[in-house]
Amino acid sequence: MSKIIKTLGVNIDHVATIRQARKTIEPEPATAAALAEMGGADGITIHLREDRRHIQDYDLDVLKRTIKSRLNLEMALSEGVIKKALEIEPEQITIVPEKREEVTTEGGLDVVRGFDQLKKVILQFQDKGIYVSLFIDPEPDQIKASADLGVEFIELHTGHYANASMRERHIPQKQLFDGASQAINLGLRVNAGHGLTYHNVQEILTMEGLEELNIGHSIIARAVFVGLKEAVREMKNIIIHNN
Ligand code: PXP
Repeated sequence: MSKIIKTLGVNIDHVATIRQARKTIEPEPATAAALAEMGGADGITIHLREDRRHIQDYDLDVLKRTIKSRLNLEMALSEGVIKKALEIEPEQITIVPEKREEVTTEGGLDVVRGFDQLKKVILQFQDKGIYVSLFIDPEPDQIKASADLGVEFIELHTGHYANASMRERHIPQKQLFDGASQAINLGLRVNAGHGLTYHNVQEILTMEGLEELNIGHSIIARAVFVGLKEAVREMKNIIIHNN
């Protein structure tokens, strides 16, 4: 098996959050995407939420035309969002669960329960040559159901790992690593993300078979002080050193 090169997807939703705080035209997410790419981002991730609290439909049009790497669109199974995503044709979609009252995506998708509905939507994207990833917790049933759905990728939810105390972190870490190995054995490709920072990402990078990390908050938070290109470069260097 050829060696997997681990890559970085940078989530730029927070840039749109700042813009929407004043409903103005700045900061522009497309500029953020360009700077992230200059810093070494392998892909740009955005989440078009049903409530449009940060990324807007027009951002997709602009980003689709200006991104030079890959566009990964996070989305829930909401009719309007599916329609927009099919029209834009990003390189990849990542299906996530969504609750209006949440601050950020809280848990993984329930693939077992949503199997039939997911199947229909996934096929519409795969028919257009768009990769589909499912954002799930590292639970054996969810991983098996994801493989049964024939998606290319899963994204393992690292939130529990990120929120755990140093003393207990090995428990969610083991679940993630076991989940990754089950997924690889079932023919899935494995990404991971949520809550990852410059300080907790190293252990995750030792996950066998891991391909891409999707990181937003920590990078944008650092960018406030060092600039986005530099913040991305620093995270990319950590990944390169662990490749
Ligand atoms: N992956 C998914 C599926 C997400 O929903 C998010 C948050 O938008 C991320 C990764 C990035 O999480 P964070 O902002 O905590 O790095």
